[in-house]
Amino acid sequence: MDTYETLLTRRSCRAYDPDRPVDRETLEKVVEAGRFAPSGMGRQPVHFVVVTDRATRDRLSRMNAAIMGSSADPFYEAPAVIVVLVDNQVPTSQDDGALALGNLMNAAHALGVESCWIHRAEEEFDSAEGRELLSQWGLPADGSLRGIGHCILGYAPAGAPAPLAKPRKENVIWVD
Ligand SMILES: Cc1cc2nc3c(=O)[nH]c(=O)nc-3n(C[C@H](O)[C@H](O)[C@H](O)COP(=O)(O)O)c2cc1C
Repeated sequence: MDTYETLLTRRSCRAYDPDRPVDRETLEKVVEAGRFAPSGMGRQPVHFVVVTDRATRDRLSRMNAAIMGSSADPFYEAPAVIVVLVDNQVPTSQDDGALALGNLMNAAHALGVESCWIHRAEEEFDSAEGRELLSQWGLPADGSLRGIGHCILGYAPAGAPAPLAKPRKENVIWVD
């Protein structure tokens, strides 16, 4: 698939086969694409935490669901999650984090892996439990890291219909 086709055909996936993991080499390629996203003044304030450990993945899912007051799995049974956090001292960090997340999802699609951005990482990592996890992972837990989002990754169950893009809004003005 060429790059342009990848950008137009990536879709968010909301049903995963929990028993079909994404292999390590593929996850490394996905996260590498995130690391190469542009950032304001090239400061690279984005941190990636690649979670495949089932217990940690389930813990993040529970924390995320609790923020919504839900008990359903907001990760749709996806077996892998890349948490994207940024150093909030950097003025462009929010934008840098969002761009990195976009790179993760597009790279995943190029490699045949389904993905979706799952929100509420800011609240998740601003909590005592979130800070405890940051500390366990060797990251600063002093409030200097802000959660941007999660990129969930995996494969759709066999036979699942491919998600379609909504019709595009016009939202383009040409000033020739
Ligand atoms: C900032 C942001 C937050 C999102 N949060 C969620 C989320 O929490 N749960 C979810 O299922 N999808 C989430 N999405 C996915 C969007 O719903 C999805 O991108 C949108 O419906 C368009 O579909 P597409 O990605 O297939 O083009 C999020 C996307 C973005 C950009």
